[in-house]
Amino acid sequence: ALVTSTEMFKKAYAGQYAIGAFNVNNMEIIQGIVDAAKQEKSAIILQVSAGARKYANPIYLRKLVEAAIEDSGLDIVLHLDHGDSVEMCKKCVDDGFTSVMIDASHHSFEENIRITKEVVDYAHSKGVVVEAELGRLAGVEDSVNVSKEDASYTDPDQAVEFVQRTGIDSLAIAIGTSHGAYKFKGEPKLDFARLEVITNLLPNFPLVLHGASTVLPEFVELCNKYGGNIPGAQGVPEHMLRQASKLGVCKINIDTDLRLAMTAAIRRHLVENPSDFDPRKYLGPARDAIQGMVQHKIKNVLGSSNSM
Ligand code: G3H
Ligand code: 13P
Ligand code: ZN
Repeated sequence: ALVTSTEMFKKAYAGQYAIGAFNVNNMEIIQGIVDAAKQEKSAIILQVSAGARKYANPIYLRKLVEAAIEDSGLDIVLHLDHGDSVEMCKKCVDDGFTSVMIDASHHSFEENIRITKEVVDYAHSKGVVVEAELGRLAGVEDSVNVSKEDASYTDPDQAVEFVQRTGIDSLAIAIGTSHGAYKFKGEPKLDFARLEVITNLLPNFPLVLHGASTVLPEFVELCNKYGGNIPGAQGVPEHMLRQASKLGVCKINIDTDLRLAMTAAIRRHLVENPSDFDPRKYLGPARDAIQGMVQHKIKNVLGSSNSM
């Protein structure tokens, strides 16, 4: 069924695992993710960004997710990723999303609270849960282009005040991750000490980690081997994601790893089969690659197998 994340997060928090939140943009991506979740009997979140809504037309994604729920019999959350305005969040609430993120993290603290609270009041009146963000991730966010210097980690005391004053259901924190395929220049490093302080100040409150793709070397190498050019790509090591899931992080956002798995499979297929031109011939392997990658994440990293 289409559900909110409330029960999922409660169980994840208690069980010290995390729910994967995967970005979806088309049918094959949705099918790959949902097939993996079905194999692992895992709860999942499917999330739609502003860019995805623009690319696919919101109704197509919604109907595809509905089909995935009906076909799989799984409990799935339909979540708006990085909602950039009160209006967009309200629209998604009205459209049947069970969870929305309002990302006003680029505003001042007081303005972030004011905007977030407005979304919470509306969403809660319709039974929809809200994620918001405090602190800034480096890199490119939907409509927000944050430079490295502009990124600032979440302040623990502000996090407590933010949660209390807004009434949000989950909080996205900045501890050193960033969106995209180039997260670290040297050694990957996250501020786990800060995460622990936040978790201790907000016991049992679900935290969210954005920019949490690992940028799996296997897929980067395949892309580069078959004509791609993505040198120096590096993500969050999987052991760090496991560690985060034991420290109150209940939702781990993954998009880049889906993109890389899909692109690697398509590149390889087209190079190895130059006379193929039926899209099903290369989108099928792309879907399989996503399924395998997501199943690995669920089983070996998120720890959410058998959470359904
Ligand atoms: O937050 C970024 C996600 O990867 C979504 O990316 O805005 O290009 O759809 P997008
Ligand atoms: P990645 O770019 O690391 O996959 O992060 C995705 C994300 O945070 C979506 O909101
Ligand atoms: Zn994000």
